[in-house]
Amino acid sequence: MQEVLCITGGRKLEGDVRVSGAKNSALPLIFATLLSPEPCVLRNVPDLEDISVTMRLLRSLGTKAKYEDHCIHLHTPEITGTEAPYASVKALRASFWVLGPLLARAGQAQVSLPGGDAIGTRPVDLHIKGLQQLGAEIHMKHGVVHGTAPGGLQAGPVHLDFPSVGATHNLLMTAALIPGETILSGAAREPEVVELANLLSAMGAEIEGAGSDIIIIRGRERLKGVDFSVLGDRIEAVTYLLSGAVTAGRVRISGIAPQALHSSLELLKEMGCELQEGEDWVELQGPERLRAVSFCTAPYPGVATDVQALFMAALTRAEGTSVIEERVFESRMGHAAEYRRFGADISISARIARVSGKSILSAAPVESNDIRAAAGLVLMGLVAEGVTQVRELYHLDRGYDGIVGKLEALGADISRIPAFDNREVVWGC
Ligand code: UD1
Repeated sequence: MQEVLCITGGRKLEGDVRVSGAKNSALPLIFATLLSPEPCVLRNVPDLEDISVTMRLLRSLGTKAKYEDHCIHLHTPEITGTEAPYASVKALRASFWVLGPLLARAGQAQVSLPGGDAIGTRPVDLHIKGLQQLGAEIHMKHGVVHGTAPGGLQAGPVHLDFPSVGATHNLLMTAALIPGETILSGAAREPEVVELANLLSAMGAEIEGAGSDIIIIRGRERLKGVDFSVLGDRIEAVTYLLSGAVTAGRVRISGIAPQALHSSLELLKEMGCELQEGEDWVELQGPERLRAVSFCTAPYPGVATDVQALFMAALTRAEGTSVIEERVFESRMGHAAEYRRFGADISISARIARVSGKSILSAAPVESNDIRAAAGLVLMGLVAEGVTQVRELYHLDRGYDGIVGKLEALGADISRIPAFDNREVVWGC
């Protein structure tokens, strides 16, 4: 049944949140288990729709997969299917990352082309060029990428012209099952890439340099099973820190090393927040009113594109004018239109947003169009005057494990109710 999220704004949030495992780390780790015929266990896996979609895809390829209490048991003794159909790639673009592991383990793969989405055209040329450099033959037919490795894959130098996170994941996984040395230059440096390299090393590959732009992978003919825990979600961590920042509250997040949040923490300080940090926690005290700040998104260690919508939401109430430039995805400003429904003053020109902070936002019915935009709407609902209703919760459920319970524990007035029709939604709040 469709649901709507009702938030009554105006409460100061206070308390502790333990962040869940990172979805964007769990996904490549799950795909990587396809490389081994032995049982694998992944722990601290968030309970999210994207994880269910991935498990369904793996089951169709021959994996026995069971999710229980944030732990997944995965075992692929044999690859029995080599196709990732349109439905699964459409539901989750990261399904495309199955291409490399299938090619490496089964010598062939048929993966539907993802196509564009709300944030950009999102090509996969870098994945394909990289796999071709490793000896794969790839052609496109009827919207499907067909890959084969007739002469087997060969280790060697591979270069990425842009540090794509997904292409780096795909190539790392593939190279781990090719005996010999692959040198991947122009690689993405995100913590999730380091985590994937750690998992592949635990499975028997030898990997150096993950976290820098050159990764050396000495692959193996066979990889072993693994028992591995997923790292904390840095985007979720920033979301809860911002919930404290916008409400002038005090929020402490734990379960993640502050270094992974460095660029976001710098922005929060510039916005007037006081921060304290420990080994795996950060505590934030928000000011009575945030200050404007300007930034552009960039690959790690720059400000992540995934926090852009979150900071924009917070800055709609800051004192002064902020300028935000989106440099990773070409059209990731769609949320501004919904933010304006709260009375936010945002003008967009190409990839640049100018946000003039307002002292008061007024609650409105709003609709999300992607995961982080949905969380941005929630942040605005926490401070807007009146009752905000957020629809299309599917997006929020893809990326935030237990967000309602976590915000309630911090003192937010928030609840999910069935969305029977508009009238009942208003009464229900
Ligand atoms: C991952 C994350 C996503 C995050 C993004 C950037 C997951 C599940 N998703 O997405 O949340 O916003 O990294 O940090 O982890 N590009 C090409 N050709 C390619 C591949 C990418 O031109 O073959 C471009 C994209 O269009 C985009 C940029 O590179 O403009 C970055 O994309 P990429 O890093 O690949 O993002 P994803 O891995 O899809």
